[in-house]
Amino acid sequence: MKDEGRNIFTVFDEILDRKVKENLLNQKGIVVWMTGLSGSGKTSIAIALERLLNQKGFLTQILDGDNLRSGINNNLGFSASDRAENIRRIAEISKLFLNCGIITINCFVSPTKEIRAQAKQIIGANDFIEVFINTPLEVCEQRDVKGLYEKARKGEIKDFTGIDAPFEAPENSFIDIKTANKNPEDSAKELYTNILSKIIKA
Ligand code: ADX
Repeated sequence: MKDEGRNIFTVFDEILDRKVKENLLNQKGIVVWMTGLSGSGKTSIAIALERLLNQKGFLTQILDGDNLRSGINNNLGFSASDRAENIRRIAEISKLFLNCGIITINCFVSPTKEIRAQAKQIIGANDFIEVFINTPLEVCEQRDVKGLYEKARKGEIKDFTGIDAPFEAPENSFIDIKTANKNPEDSAKELYTNILSKIIKA
């Protein structure tokens, strides 16, 4: 298809269909989109979930905020517009994996409803599985695994989510994982049980 204004000729309709790749992998691709505060446990749960899925024969890819910000998104900061661009790029990247039939496990603060709605729109509502890693700010701050909350409280980091930048909890997430009294492996098992019907090939 030609985009007249930009001299672009897309071939989306000619490349091998996602279904062919899903058949090859014997799975269905989805995007497991975890949202939650920094330190809520997204990455630890993603790592445990990926191991579990791998044992069960599923092909996955973790997309993680800190990792992607050290590479493709290393020119982005934490202003509202940079966060929106961060999430836009991640959503586009997720779509590429999805079209290969791969299950992506995304760990991004993705702090606002608007930002997550944008991701959902890019990925497609059927394939976007929103998971709220529901750990209260007090617990994240107490854990302070990366020492960032302490810095944010001292004013050494500006626009820190939950401190001086907003976090809007999702209201209609596919699943809400409360982590306060659970280890990441248990949270991953809970998540696995809930997504299984979406990734098994009929
Ligand atoms: S998002 O808001 O754009 O979705 P993303 O998930 O990519 O954020 O990155 C969040 C990670 O960046 C945090 O886990 C933390 O390690 C680090 N970080 C550094 N500065 C900030 C900040 N101001 N707000 C939130 N996270 C920050």
